[in-house]
Amino acid sequence: MKLNIALLAGDGIGPEVIDQAVKVSDAVAKKFGHEITWKPALTGAAAIDAVGEPYPDETHNICKTSDAVLFGAIGDPKYDNDPSAPVRPEQGLLKMRKALGLFANVRPTFVFPSLLDKSPLKKERIEGTDLVFLRELTGGIYFGEKGRRDDRNTAYDNCVYTKEEVTRLARKGFELAMQRSKRLCCVDKANVLETSRLWRETVQGLEAEYPEVEVSYEFVDAVAMRLVQWPSDYDVLITENLFGDILTDEASVISGSMGLMPSASLGSDIGLFEPIHGSYPQAAGKNIANPMATVLSAAMMFENFDLIEEGKVIREAVNKALAEGIVTEDLSEGDKAYGTSEVGDWLAANI
Ligand code: IPM
Ligand code: MN
Repeated sequence: MKLNIALLAGDGIGPEVIDQAVKVSDAVAKKFGHEITWKPALTGAAAIDAVGEPYPDETHNICKTSDAVLFGAIGDPKYDNDPSAPVRPEQGLLKMRKALGLFANVRPTFVFPSLLDKSPLKKERIEGTDLVFLRELTGGIYFGEKGRRDDRNTAYDNCVYTKEEVTRLARKGFELAMQRSKRLCCVDKANVLETSRLWRETVQGLEAEYPEVEVSYEFVDAVAMRLVQWPSDYDVLITENLFGDILTDEASVISGSMGLMPSASLGSDIGLFEPIHGSYPQAAGKNIANPMATVLSAAMMFENFDLIEEGKVIREAVNKALAEGIVTEDLSEGDKAYGTSEVGDWLAANI
């Protein structure tokens, strides 16, 4: 297969972890006879510094004409402490999600058998955890009208959802549940929010079309609690943009390190694949960041092209590295820590 992949390294540790995913993907392409053409493009603070905006038209054109986007991370602390900054790196990511129609963010949480005692939660609580969040990504409070009034002393962010937006996300949730354990949990705050009541009634309206799927409805605060009590109780969870943002960060540490969990953003022909973690600026340039989340995001990319074996060999290489202690400092616990690029080299050599 010939693949054109837009390569958006972004900020902080983004370029380092992306390099490892490229190495590993190239090794997979070589093994299976694929041809990958990487198309680097600017995004985030790196793009603001170079051309004044975080998602330039040129980057959009490269993404639009590629088969998928592999993304590193976005964000720079120099913007975080400046509430009045006119442009921010994060706007690039939001613009890209909207412009590419990526309304469904797939964020799995699973545990690696060799890391069960690295989790902040007790081993017996997390054993068997294998869940997937489907986070709505192009609506809700992230994209509603926002602003200031009354001499800037009042601020507002509107949360708006249409039935159509909920329906398309929920359908993906039902379909995913059908491929898995046929359990779907709709996470909302329907006891307080009108948007949540629309979510609930929309999902209820779809239940008859998927009679085999057992649907539960839970409030987001309860899910936040149960997720760290009994994560293995959950399978597919669907939720709106902000709830999904928060809950997936919470879920990402269950496996032992935030540096392990991949994600996919889908909705149009072009999928975007990125690690769940952020730009980790303190580690930038130090060759210490864990590249596995990005490498596993590349596995999701292959799987999304229906290249299932290709994804599998990447997952197997990661499992083997974890079992043999070929890990970065976030997982080494006093044992030898490998550098970002050494882990990447090892994974590529084990494809
Ligand atoms: C994420 C990030 C983004 C989000 C930021 C960087 C805009 O936290 O992908 O979860 O809030 O969606
Ligand atoms: Mn987030």
